[in-house]
Amino acid sequence: MNILELLTLRAPEIDKIMEEIIPRNAEPKTIYPLIWEFLDRGGKRFRPLLTLLCCRAVGSEYEGIKKAAAAFEIFHNFTLVHDDIEDNSLKRRGKPCIHITNGIPLAINAGDGLFVYVWKAVEEANIPKDKLQRSIHIYNKAFKGVLDGQGWEIGWFTYNKWDLTEEDYLMMVKGKTGALIAGACELGAYLGDGTEKQIEVLRDFGLAVGIAFQIQDDILDIVGDNKKFQKIIKGDITEGKRTLIVINTLEKCTPEERDFLTKTLDSHTEDEELKNKVVELFEKYDSINYSKEFAKNIINKEKEKLNKELKDSEAKEKLLSMADFFINREF
Ligand code: IPE
Ligand code: IPE
Ligand code: MG
Ligand code: MG
Ligand code: MG
Repeated sequence: MNILELLTLRAPEIDKIMEEIIPRNAEPKTIYPLIWEFLDRGGKRFRPLLTLLCCRAVGSEYEGIKKAAAAFEIFHNFTLVHDDIEDNSLKRRGKPCIHITNGIPLAINAGDGLFVYVWKAVEEANIPKDKLQRSIHIYNKAFKGVLDGQGWEIGWFTYNKWDLTEEDYLMMVKGKTGALIAGACELGAYLGDGTEKQIEVLRDFGLAVGIAFQIQDDILDIVGDNKKFQKIIKGDITEGKRTLIVINTLEKCTPEERDFLTKTLDSHTEDEELKNKVVELFEKYDSINYSKEFAKNIINKEKEKLNKELKDSEAKEKLLSMADFFINREF
């Protein structure tokens, strides 16, 4: 089974759990139907699947694991709703963002609502008492990572900051995307009674997967197929994102090109011609391929470690294939 089929097969399980946790039609109608309109748009649901697979990969099953896993998906959806407001985005999962359809105040509130239900999911997961404190620590560490990552990135485009290195990019991405995926893996391994070494290896695997996943997202934003990716292509140029592609081009280009690139990104332009000129610059310096290779190296290194540390199992095989899927995906 390929990963696309696996995700399609497992997503309804997660949806069913979310259905048990978040009311669909409760009052006020300004909250719940809005949350569900967003959740019903779909999404890959891969974060909770990682939790389940990591739990199984260390050899254990645990009854409440699905709810513990769903908490990561609910948090992820919360961040998407707020992220689209923060990034001034127009499209999410193939439709107008909910702050476009319902206005910023209700979108913020719906996002807050999702955050509230994260904790309902944790509550209902019935995590054993002796594991509760560390589990909450894992969740909070993941959530704080996202907070900090978003803080770095939003700060850069708010204050037109350009003296950035690859290290800065990695620090930001480890937070905004890596932390949650790392947490999803770490919690699965912990609740599955993994050894400290296994917990560490799976957490690091999640972090690496997260970084590579974000780099691929940044690549798809430039060269992706609109129909598959379901976001606005070249939206990151309008948003002024400091992606690895941008940072790599800035390291190689002439002072005049640097001036053009930084000014264009700071202008939040929607002009197709200007955006295409930016892409030409990325291509001239081979920065898209550079980023692709960068992501591939991260994944290969981490796959090797995972392969060595974990006993062979179906779950391990799936984790390894998922890692490849993240850098080859088109949506
Ligand atoms: C989007 O995440 C945000 C990023 C980390 C780039 P996903 O691509 O997992 O979003 P959905 O849930 O499938 O829509
Ligand atoms: C991804 O942010 C991480 C979070 C949503 C916290 P991005 O802004 O890079 O993701 P997209 O491209 O909007 O999905
Ligand atoms: Mg965004
Ligand atoms: Mg963002
Ligand atoms: Mg993106």
